[in-house]
Amino acid sequence: MHDTAAPNRADAEALDAADPLRGFRDEFVVADEETCYLDGNSLGRLPRASLRAVADLMEHEWGGNLVAGWSGWIDEAQHVGDLIGRAALGAAAGQVLAVDTTSSNFYQLCTAALRARPGRGTVVSDAANFPTDRYILEGICRDRGLRLVFVDDDSGEGAVTGDALESVLDDDVALVTLSVVQYRSGALHDVAGMTGAIHRHGALALWDASHAVGAVPLELDRWGVDLAVGCTYKYGNSGPGAPAWLYVAARHVDALQVPIQGWFAQADQFGMGPSFERAPGIRGFQVATPPIIGLRCVREGFGMIERAGIGAIAAKAARATAMMVSLHDAWLAPLGCTLVTPRDPSRRGGHVTFHHAQAGQLSRAMRTVKVVGDYRAPDQVRVACSPLATRYVEVWDGFARIRDLLADGAHLRAAPPSSRVT
Ligand SMILES: Cc1ncc(COP(=O)(O)O)c(C=O)c1O
Repeated sequence: MHDTAAPNRADAEALDAADPLRGFRDEFVVADEETCYLDGNSLGRLPRASLRAVADLMEHEWGGNLVAGWSGWIDEAQHVGDLIGRAALGAAAGQVLAVDTTSSNFYQLCTAALRARPGRGTVVSDAANFPTDRYILEGICRDRGLRLVFVDDDSGEGAVTGDALESVLDDDVALVTLSVVQYRSGALHDVAGMTGAIHRHGALALWDASHAVGAVPLELDRWGVDLAVGCTYKYGNSGPGAPAWLYVAARHVDALQVPIQGWFAQADQFGMGPSFERAPGIRGFQVATPPIIGLRCVREGFGMIERAGIGAIAAKAARATAMMVSLHDAWLAPLGCTLVTPRDPSRRGGHVTFHHAQAGQLSRAMRTVKVVGDYRAPDQVRVACSPLATRYVEVWDGFARIRDLLADGAHLRAAPPSSRVT
């Protein structure tokens, strides 16, 4: 394959034949081989092992053991958290919990961070950050009387630059929170460099890694990250609404306090005492009863990532996104598309976004020819390779079908986009 011409289908087949991860595809439920599923960055495919794991849990543990099952389940959020940490986050044990949702974990950790920086009045985020992060910050800052500053993505590649961040950092900043990979552009931030800059001003750094985890090699411990959150249902293949995760660096674990003091964070949980005494360690961040069924799916999803190795996964994501960029340039650019995602593979995650004036109608039309990507209003289409489940030839076929739709004008005959279609 070369940079200037589109790879042909045989190139994609050769990449699949040489792919060290090719065996993993058969570990997923694939209901329709003709569908090019390029939306694993939104909802990953179902691992067959999750079907078995949940059935086993239901029959033998819940069905068989009833309430005695809690002797094994009680620490499951910590065990699965440790697995996520070692498989995908570069995090040593005792710093990750698999709990709740990304949104609620984000609220909990932002508030804990702000409590640890009393007297500072500014929170910094990114104008293009994922909506839930921006909305939650608005609420926190309103309630606490803090100033919320949004940095603009000024790189032309949908990412905040180090210079833009520096321009808003001063000694009044308590917390900076950004996404590792931007949900729209797919741009990858310099987590280590930006965390260092944030620390030089005495602030804490919280990273949302939802679009990075399972596609990009993360080194949260080595990069000096303070806090992070993310989901498990994208490249983690853990299922719709599966428990999310939170990461608290070891140096903060016993110092920070989240606002919801639930009974799972109580030192003597079953003493049922009159007032809250926080448990030591990461357990001090757990609010409530863990959702064991969902956690089994997370265990299977991240168990696959651990077996495959995040290095091999990230290498495939880089190669597949390079193929998407070549196909975009050769086929889609002449038909009115413009690439949004950075061209440098070291500056992007596992998805590629392109702009088209009728992106919503194009997204609808793509589903009629069995290509599933997603639409981001008003004018962008996102497509991804989820390295364990997606074949190179699936990417190639998907792009060929998008090219044919655009060339034929079929997208113009599609219904206008619905805001509920993802
Ligand atoms: C970057 C990012 N943050 C947060 C969320 C919200 O996740 P949840 O609905 O699990 O809270 C998402 C969901 O896609 C996301 O992409």
